[in-house]
Amino acid sequence: MGYNIAVDGPAGAGKSTIARAVAKKKGLIYVDTGAMYRAMALYMLREQIPLDNMERIVEKCEQASITIRYENGEQVVLLNGENVNPFLRTEEVGNAASVISPIPQVREKLRKLQKELAAMSDCIMDGRDIGTCVLPNAQLKIYLTASSQVRAQRRYDELAAKGQEGELNKILQDIEERDYRDIHREESPLKQAEDAVLVDTSDMTVDQVIEVISGLCQHDR
Ligand code: DC
Repeated sequence: MGYNIAVDGPAGAGKSTIARAVAKKKGLIYVDTGAMYRAMALYMLREQIPLDNMERIVEKCEQASITIRYENGEQVVLLNGENVNPFLRTEEVGNAASVISPIPQVREKLRKLQKELAAMSDCIMDGRDIGTCVLPNAQLKIYLTASSQVRAQRRYDELAAKGQEGELNKILQDIEERDYRDIHREESPLKQAEDAVLVDTSDMTVDQVIEVISGLCQHDR
């Protein structure tokens, strides 16, 4: 096994920003597992599968080929051969991902891919169940969190930076609903692994968080 860091936590805690930066600093590959759930959700939306029809989702899930490629250190998600990165980071796809991610067959399929990637390379992987289920033997586990208000504000700023209009109250409501679903689902719920280091980023700058996690990382480039 290579050197693996697991980063889990709720939506908007800063997982991807931090994991991407630590990957660069420490010479690791960044594996974004949320993007895989998002790609699966995008497939269901495109195929017009009702998100409450579990049977059809399970059936369709088998037909979806999701693979990962790296271009200039960036993860590219291929859905049936197509680079779908440009379509993954919308609220619609994020909410759909949260709805389909409790389905065991969906998780099983994506987890297999995640384990394969971790076995092949030294990586920092972020998600919800990485420290608890996907990489229980990771050398370092981080549970990254922040208050829901802070996370909503960050999402709002992120959208604004992309020129997209967001409504803060609606974003906060979505975040709280998504947290509830992620925490209360039966299948691998979002929770801190016993051996994970808790980092609350509510009052920290991005650089401070990168510094703390890099300090805990024993991987030398
Ligand atoms: O981190 P994100 O917002 O890109 O994740 C989108 C959804 O995917 C999120 O609501 C929960 C789900 N997810 C999951 O269940 N397990 C993971 N390892 C990663 C994401």
